[in-house]
Amino acid sequence: MSESRVFVTRRIPEPGLALLREAGVRLEICQRIEEEGVTREQLLAGVRSCDVLLPLLTEPIDPEVLGANDRLLGVAQMAVGYNNVDVAAATERGIPVSNTPGVLTETTADCTWAMLLAVARRVPQAHNYMVEGRYKLWGPNLFLGGDVGVGASGRRKVLGIVGYGRIGQAVAKRSIGFDMDVLAFDPFNRQAIDADPRVRWAELPELLGKSDFITLHTPLTQGTHHLIGEAELRRMQRTAYLVNAARGPVVDEKALVIALREGWIAGAALDVYEDEPAMAPGLAELPNAVLLPHIASASHDTRGKMAEIAAQNALCHLRRERAPNVVNPEVYDTEAYRRRTARS
Ligand code: DGY
Repeated sequence: MSESRVFVTRRIPEPGLALLREAGVRLEICQRIEEEGVTREQLLAGVRSCDVLLPLLTEPIDPEVLGANDRLLGVAQMAVGYNNVDVAAATERGIPVSNTPGVLTETTADCTWAMLLAVARRVPQAHNYMVEGRYKLWGPNLFLGGDVGVGASGRRKVLGIVGYGRIGQAVAKRSIGFDMDVLAFDPFNRQAIDADPRVRWAELPELLGKSDFITLHTPLTQGTHHLIGEAELRRMQRTAYLVNAARGPVVDEKALVIALREGWIAGAALDVYEDEPAMAPGLAELPNAVLLPHIASASHDTRGKMAEIAAQNALCHLRRERAPNVVNPEVYDTEAYRRRTARS
């Protein structure tokens, strides 16, 4: 494998790089500086000269990129989401695409809860108040927020989970300590919902109308683009909170700004944005929004493991073996794949 080259678009955590180095792979790491993106030219040049591409969710892997090298043996994305990769175009060209599922489930569920609690109890706003030296006297009305548990009202709150895959289920598990009732909606995971005694299936309109907290965990597809738009936001309770730990375009961000400004809902916590890293005009100024820079899976252990899994998949692509996390397994039966692997 000494001649094999993997193009890593931006510096990934060391465990992944170490695995590739130990396997004797020649590593091309495009951007070594954390916050520098890869230019289109750098991406295309890197793809042309590598055997396997290891990108992040920030790079569009479109037909032009996929078509730039007819010896490319695979795309080993370091993320569970892969909406930045044109998988149909990859399959058509005989290119396996892999992702890094599973390892980030617990970390992302933790962060979802951190966001939920932070927005309900106004934690970032209260923190800023302290560090800005504005705390002069304890007050009975200082930073009043919403209860997540039963609180003094004794009412069990309703958690509505949209997307009941691995992460949605891990979020549900964490609600037990808060004595919540849980509704879930996910047409692709109906069985998991019905089999889970902690949750009850609800169609989206019912879930929107009844939940005190709504958390989003769907992949971004044509079917989930703007799943939460003006009509859905209007259906939520004025006291309810929305948490998006999925993908930005699942929510119509402009409509959300209006909803937050006009008080259709109580607050929102976002880890992802429609046009990342940009935010919709007005979002940053809202007092009832908690905003994170896409860090739901960002723990040392999890990001290290994601890098390792991406590297393991990359090695399989290089060896022309079935990658454990291939998202287009049908590719292995195509003539295009046979031609491609015979060529390189
Ligand atoms: C993913 O993996 O898809 C997350 O958005 C980043 O970890």
